[in-house]
Amino acid sequence: MTSPALPGPLASIAALPQADLKSIFTTDPDRLSKLVLTQGPIRFDWSKTHLTDDLMAGFLKLAEEQGFAAQRDALFAGEAVNNTEGRAAEHPAERGEGNAQSVAQAKMLHARMRALIDAIEAGALGEIRHILHIGIGGSALGPDLIIDALDGEGIRYDVAIVSNVDGTALERALDSFDPKYTLIAVASKTFTTTETMLNAASAINWMVEAGVEDPYGRVIALTASPDRAIAWGVDETRILPFAESVGGRYSLWSSIGFPAALSLGWDAFESLLEGAAAMDRHFRLSAPEENAPLIAAFVDQYYTRVLGCQTRALFAYDERLKLLPSYLQQLEMESNGKSVKRDGTPVDGPSAPITWGGVGTDAQHAVFQLLHQGTILSPVEFIASIEPGHVLDPAHHRALLVNCFAQGAALMRGKENADDPARAYPGNRPSTTILVEDVTPEVVGALIAFYEHRTFANAVLMGINPFDQFGVELGKEIAKSIETDGPTGFDPSTMALIDLALGGE
Ligand code: F6P
Repeated sequence: MTSPALPGPLASIAALPQADLKSIFTTDPDRLSKLVLTQGPIRFDWSKTHLTDDLMAGFLKLAEEQGFAAQRDALFAGEAVNNTEGRAAEHPAERGEGNAQSVAQAKMLHARMRALIDAIEAGALGEIRHILHIGIGGSALGPDLIIDALDGEGIRYDVAIVSNVDGTALERALDSFDPKYTLIAVASKTFTTTETMLNAASAINWMVEAGVEDPYGRVIALTASPDRAIAWGVDETRILPFAESVGGRYSLWSSIGFPAALSLGWDAFESLLEGAAAMDRHFRLSAPEENAPLIAAFVDQYYTRVLGCQTRALFAYDERLKLLPSYLQQLEMESNGKSVKRDGTPVDGPSAPITWGGVGTDAQHAVFQLLHQGTILSPVEFIASIEPGHVLDPAHHRALLVNCFAQGAALMRGKENADDPARAYPGNRPSTTILVEDVTPEVVGALIAFYEHRTFANAVLMGINPFDQFGVELGKEIAKSIETDGPTGFDPSTMALIDLALGGE
């Protein structure tokens, strides 16, 4: 694929001289104070990136030319920012920020969710020990991340989040649960997604086979399509609806967060929402030059669009945040992995890079070789917490953080070796460090909201609508047509695969 030329302001940014990170603190001694921003419990450090005063000025101009402030206001006002589907993107309203009517509706739906949680805790559905959450994409990744990050806060049930249509995933979860004490949460915005509906049906069968009298009596539906949930067999009183204007990958704040709210407790869920709301206010009210999601988007735009980096890597130096990279893959790639702009014309230059990553220090012993000495440049983001997530010897946490900071310094500084090129490190490789005080519900909420707004800011700078995802439809349609009409009219490769693996249907 060839990319069209970069638009005017980006072309002038590209024409600016590039600083060398190895000497950047000498040439720009104040950069730590200029490029570190502390927002509540989160400290963002962009000083080890190539961002300079000139680049910042160029990007601020780009943001202005792209109408950043007006588009941000439109997002919070509940306007139809998702222009291809003619609807708003109201995840901030779930946190109490945004259009007053939508905030009121979200509060009402949260109250309903809380009442059901209180009833479950009071035994209304019998004794519950296990929560089986069935959903996929945005209906699974968010709850999975929050529960995994916060289960040190005192989780009260065994929770399994099953997404894959591969029966092995469901079977493994069922093997560890007792059907008599299991609550099933079926999470699907549309309540039509093949994987979810198949897994939900198999979970019901599992209960029936175990002799559970009223299996549907322990099913909760989390959906924006309550009518479909009722038609499927869920009683209206156990349906927790959310607004159609909340996008799938932005939905963990809505009733999709039910397993987190039930297992971690309502107070923790509310703190998560409050943390996100604080980041919403920061994004909405801060000037562009002090706006964390926007500055992060400038860095993203520089590496992806100006330097042509095709990936960006994220390493959580905290086991509690190990699911963050996979959560962000959907958020960033499904939102901004587009080739056309809001008006249907081609995106100027590249759009979203591939988001990938892992946990430190594991990743150091697996993929960091390429980051230090490989031929491609992948900007790196480190996330670490000052407080540890465990009570073991503090030496563990010290070693974790020391390694995290050492990697950033090594990428930037490099090391010459005139005698042996195999042992030389080029350096001048950028990294951002995000340091949080601790991994609490507030911090996790603020962090996720930061990434949501950064994704939105990137979209605005590129002129993209981040809230649709038509690219996922074609494969689904073809799979459906094979199921309904049989495998006809495909290429020889596809026909041979179907013939071999599915018995020549
Ligand atoms: O196929 C992509 C997608 O539509 C995601 O955007 C969404 O999060 C996921 O499928 C699940 O959709 P649903 O919540 O409707 O089951």
